[in-house]
Amino acid sequence: MADQGFISSTQTVPNLNKVPRHIAIIMDGNGRWARKRFLPRIAGHTRGVEALRGTIRAAIEHGVEYLTVFAFSSENWRRPADEVSFLMQLFIKSLQKEVSRLHENGIRFRVIGDRSRFEPMLVKAIEAAEELTARNTRLCLTVAANYGGRWDMMTAVNRALARQPGLTEITEHQINEELSMSFAPEPDLFIRTGGEQRISNFLLWQLAYTEFYFTDALWPDFDGKALNQAIVSYQERERRFGRTSEQLTTATAGCNTECHA
Ligand code: IPE
Ligand code: IPE
Ligand code: MG
Repeated sequence: MADQGFISSTQTVPNLNKVPRHIAIIMDGNGRWARKRFLPRIAGHTRGVEALRGTIRAAIEHGVEYLTVFAFSSENWRRPADEVSFLMQLFIKSLQKEVSRLHENGIRFRVIGDRSRFEPMLVKAIEAAEELTARNTRLCLTVAANYGGRWDMMTAVNRALARQPGLTEITEHQINEELSMSFAPEPDLFIRTGGEQRISNFLLWQLAYTEFYFTDALWPDFDGKALNQAIVSYQERERRFGRTSEQLTTATAGCNTECHA
């Protein structure tokens, strides 16, 4: 719980920046990228890490404050055991290799998701990376691993109940405070690569008023230019948060954080 004054899009109309403060990405299409090249699926995952590195760099150049990426869903355990095991090892290896570079670049690293199924070595590597980078402020990189939106909401409700035994009603604010991303504003822009147009149990609660951007590009091919295209598309949108277009264009409609829904 670390509510730094972030507001809920359904309670209050947020102030908007030209550049999305928070971008959430479903990095999809690694397997297809590899298959197209007659390579094993895991080769696509390895290349996917490189695509993430380039995307982080580009996000920093744009001045994005929060980048959240879906690396492994709570449903991805259903994959063949050797692919799951490869992904876990890749996570450990990438952490070992990249953490010092993230730190040097002022990036704060966080992981959201249920860690209880991870092997102790991975949990330790995650904790060490989070601790090392805890005071960095340039970009907050959050990796969603063994994450599910339903798990997140259910956990939040259970936490709120545990805090106040006998509670019969839970408020939106209480849920917001207990969710695993309570430290960040809601995503402004959601990107999914790989051509599928679905959320696949990602940030169900937090995406309430997020702008969606789908691209056919497979994740290993995603780069700074592709991120730029997504941001340009975002800048062309009109985010109304329930209001009319006319309200947005009249001077009095310039709702700020005081303008309650
Ligand atoms: C996304 O790529 C990475 C993970 C889910 C871990 P996929 O592995 O889902 O690639 P496709 O969708 O099969 O091409
Ligand atoms: C979503 O991709 C999860 C991640 C990218 C980590 P999937 O490839 O697992 O999603 P579905 O199964 O096509 O919906
Ligand atoms: Mg996929």
